[in-house]
Amino acid sequence: MSEVASSVRPVITTMAVHGYRSLRDVVLPLGRLTVVTGANGSGKSSLYQAFRLVSDAANGRLVSSLAHAGGLSSVLWAGPEVISAAMRAGTVPVEGTGSRTRPVSLMLGLATDSFSYLVDVGLPTPSDSLFARDPEIKRELVWDGPVLRPAASLVSRKRTMVKVNGDAGWDTVTETLSTRESVLFALTDPRGFPELAQIRAEVASWRFHDQVRTDPDAPARKPQVGTWSPVLDHDGQNLAAAVQTILESAWASLLAGAVADAFDGSLLEVEESQGLFLLRLRQPGMLRPMGISEVSDGTLRYVALAVALLSPRPPGLVVLNEPETSLHPQLTGALARLISAAAACTQIVVVTHSAALVEALDHTEPDVVRHELVKELGETRVADQGLLSRPTWNWGSR
Ligand SMILES: Nc1ncnc2c1ncn2[C@@H]1O[C@H](COP(=O)(O)OP(=O)(O)O)[C@@H](O)[C@H]1O
Ligand SMILES: [Mg+2]
Repeated sequence: MSEVASSVRPVITTMAVHGYRSLRDVVLPLGRLTVVTGANGSGKSSLYQAFRLVSDAANGRLVSSLAHAGGLSSVLWAGPEVISAAMRAGTVPVEGTGSRTRPVSLMLGLATDSFSYLVDVGLPTPSDSLFARDPEIKRELVWDGPVLRPAASLVSRKRTMVKVNGDAGWDTVTETLSTRESVLFALTDPRGFPELAQIRAEVASWRFHDQVRTDPDAPARKPQVGTWSPVLDHDGQNLAAAVQTILESAWASLLAGAVADAFDGSLLEVEESQGLFLLRLRQPGMLRPMGISEVSDGTLRYVALAVALLSPRPPGLVVLNEPETSLHPQLTGALARLISAAAACTQIVVVTHSAALVEALDHTEPDVVRHELVKELGETRVADQGLLSRPTWNWGSR
């Protein structure tokens, strides 16, 4: 591992979600490698999507993502504003109080080693615009340290108004920011807004791995333009080039090791023909290498995951959604070792349904921070999380 820089500190220490689908109010401590499990319907995919929404904010797509998901009204927590102790004890039925006492609000937040950030999205103010259904960013805050305190505030956004707390006190930067645009996306000048630029660079580097297509017509199975590709495209259309990029980097032995580990000493190779790259898998005992168009779905899926995880340009955070899906159970051990190898360079969150994967990850380095999500009265809760084990998190108010 000597040639590959390794850092051991978790960059994102806490992820907080309020009012998003079944995540009424979840605050999750993260480690270098975090594994989130839970039964069907416990809120795993919603948590995965919540990470995506934070990344969308940094990439200027938060409001459009929410609109494409059916609008704020369909993703907002559908249960009562407050679940009382009596409701939890079952002595009174779960019901709303009739009128809300607080505004409708979907909030996402994260704490890092240095700065923390939250965004608060709400219903649009009525207008004649054809875009009148777009949710609005009501509030964004950046502060120093993990817990929101007025004295630690660095950037404060209220609807269209952005203020920055500088040496000479609070300074209004703009009063006309679009309520669809995050400050992370809109104010990126690193001289004027160093904290924003830092958080944006961090969050914009996050990568997500759902499933790469593996059907016979999948782009990953086709000959591909061979150009240097440190990052695997989400549809896998540069898989061969991404493999070759790794094979020509300091990560070569990690990728070769991960593939040999999973497929009995097999070897990935890339053949070039008139600028097009063809990916092949050379298996011991076979007379010819298998083209990537011929390998099984599970094999292709594993190779794509290995290429995504062992990128020569490691992102700040990788979030994997059920990476075990359609992999043969025999690959579980190799998958856990792959994730563990990647966690030496990148912070990783694994959302998984597989008890076998959780078990296998428990025996790897670095130490895994493990959370189980459970559903209680329709709400996602973190199992075994009490007042003391829940990180302090303060959403402030509008
Ligand atoms: N707006 C909402 N308010 C409350 N609960 C919701 C809302 N939308 C979806 N849910 C519930 O959230 C649960 C979690 O879904 P999901 O994250 O897909 O679970 P998992 O991935 O763990 O199977 C589902 O049971 C679903 O009924
Ligand atoms: Mg799911």
